Amino acid sequence: MCGIVGYVGGQSALDVVVEGLRRLEYRGYDSAGVALLADGKLATDKKAGKLANLESSLAESPLPAATTGIGHTRWATHGGPTDRNAHPHLDCTGSVAVIHNGIIENFALLRAELEGRGHQMSSDTDTEVVAHLLEEETRGNGEAVDLADAMRRVCRRLEGSFTLVATHVDAPELVVGARRNSPLVAGRGNGENFLASDVAAFITHTREAVELGQDQVVEVTAKSITVTDFDGNPGESREYHVEWDLSAAEKGGYDYFMLKEIDEQPQAVADTMLGRLGADGRLHLDEMRLSDDDLRAVDKIIVIACGTAFHAGLVAKYAIEHWTRIPCEVELASEFRYRDPVLTRSTLIVAISQSGETMDTLMALRHAREQQARVLAICNTNGSTIPRESDAVLYTHAGPEVAVASTKGYLTQIVACFLVGLYLAQVRGTKFGDEIRAVVDDLRGMPAKISDVLASMDPVRALGRELRDATSVLFLGRHVGYPTALEGALKLKELAYMHAEGFAAGELKHGPIALIEDGVPVIAVVPSPRGRGVLHDKVVSNLQEVRARGARTIVIAEEGDTAVEPYADTVIRIPQSPTLLQPLLSTVPLQVFACEMADARGHDVDQPRNLAKSVTVE
Ligand code: AGP
Ligand code: GLU
Repeated sequence: MCGIVGYVGGQSALDVVVEGLRRLEYRGYDSAGVALLADGKLATDKKAGKLANLESSLAESPLPAATTGIGHTRWATHGGPTDRNAHPHLDCTGSVAVIHNGIIENFALLRAELEGRGHQMSSDTDTEVVAHLLEEETRGNGEAVDLADAMRRVCRRLEGSFTLVATHVDAPELVVGARRNSPLVAGRGNGENFLASDVAAFITHTREAVELGQDQVVEVTAKSITVTDFDGNPGESREYHVEWDLSAAEKGGYDYFMLKEIDEQPQAVADTMLGRLGADGRLHLDEMRLSDDDLRAVDKIIVIACGTAFHAGLVAKYAIEHWTRIPCEVELASEFRYRDPVLTRSTLIVAISQSGETMDTLMALRHAREQQARVLAICNTNGSTIPRESDAVLYTHAGPEVAVASTKGYLTQIVACFLVGLYLAQVRGTKFGDEIRAVVDDLRGMPAKISDVLASMDPVRALGRELRDATSVLFLGRHVGYPTALEGALKLKELAYMHAEGFAAGELKHGPIALIEDGVPVIAVVPSPRGRGVLHDKVVSNLQEVRARGARTIVIAEEGDTAVEPYADTVIRIPQSPTLLQPLLSTVPLQVFACEMADARGHDVDQPRNLAKSVTVE
């Protein structure tokens, strides 16, 4: 999910690769490594932490000069961020070096097979299996190793999402890449060629790029870039000239990281489910190191989190209680430990944190563990403090989130909470297998629906511009629409520095309705009219109440829900989905709205004033 660079040419490969990695640093990472191919030998170095750690190690023990090399920055998904787990990974003979971004979903099976055939693994990563598979595929080929063909054979056996780049001692001056659901682009230079996760890595050397398609393998020498599909047929690729400057290139052409991250949400949600929803419809959560017996003994769940992660917890409560019948509380981490909560060994604490470093959440979980409660972390950052101090962890695979305002972090937290809820229901037998399978099927359909929402955001952007001078925006929702309203308001506060409040629609008449006056924008999240129709009708009534008092109503409603039209000044349509899953769709327009409004008001969208990405003080 982070950075990859490959180089073949006439310059020092180490210089080109390290410079490329530096330009990919904005993507976030936890370790870095390089492999150079010189005089028929591989030379590698890799270090946990910042690129500077790798650079000082290289200064201490220089690698031989080389003109072919690969480099990697890692965002750990499988195995902690250690030197050992940093890439490149080598096979048993030290002949092939592999770097990888993404997740190999069927790695456990492949690893067991490889170990059965005598391979020795030296890391905890999913990636390493590829090095050993390439070893098998190139073994016995003698001097002329066909690395591209070996890569194609290996890729046909892999499931998941991956960008892979490899180099082999018996295939000099060659770097081979492959991609599925993960980025890889080639750069065409003069007597030199490049591979990278994005053009930012080589833009100072060449602006001529080759876009690679899905399921393709690319062979890069100093003179040629050859693209095939995984079966060896010539592959279609698109040559283009990069117009962006470096800073635009880092953001993939988007004005802000936040916009890029909003657009990455379908992929992030899909990646968070990857490898966890079995073909049999059952759930497999390997990183949950609590035994099924422990989970059966749980009699109360308390979700602790801050900010946006707290809102994910609020959504979780509806799903977890509904599916498992276990009482579930949700509490702001900063309040939790100061109220002397009742905790026992059968209390399950779910600590949600994108960064894994939020001090309030960390302190709350320490308190819970002192009281013997079990802690399950839902986290996006492998090896960070919160998962390290928890009994179990379920990682969201959103990839690094750079913008301070959480977007893909949030949607993937919700998905992870759903997975926890479904897993508990499965283990405790509170839902039949076919009921769980039905939810799993619905979840599988969500990435495509999120893409549909993203494709129809022009009116929302226009609205953000139009309402830029508003002084206050109110958000209404019921059931899971309530946390969505809270999240919409938080985004607007953070980014547009505007007064914004989210209300439970039913609370309106108990006070907040006094705020309604002519022209006040009210954004209402309307539940599906199907299923729990009563919820829908109640929100439509609330809409009528605010409209009658002059509010400007903006309504987020399902396709086909015509009942909202008479009371809506603007309708934003989202695809139909089960009520519990709706926040995965209804949140997206609110993110886009806040981002657009902030930009229209001239604010720094990625780094809003007074805020930090990771809040490491209480
Ligand atoms: C999200 O947009 C915010 N920047 C903030 O509320 C954040 O969600 C909160 O600080 C918790 O962070 P965490 O998920 O890294 O623990
Ligand atoms: N899944 C691999 C690992 O954990 C690659 C992670 C990445 O994308 O950097 O090592």
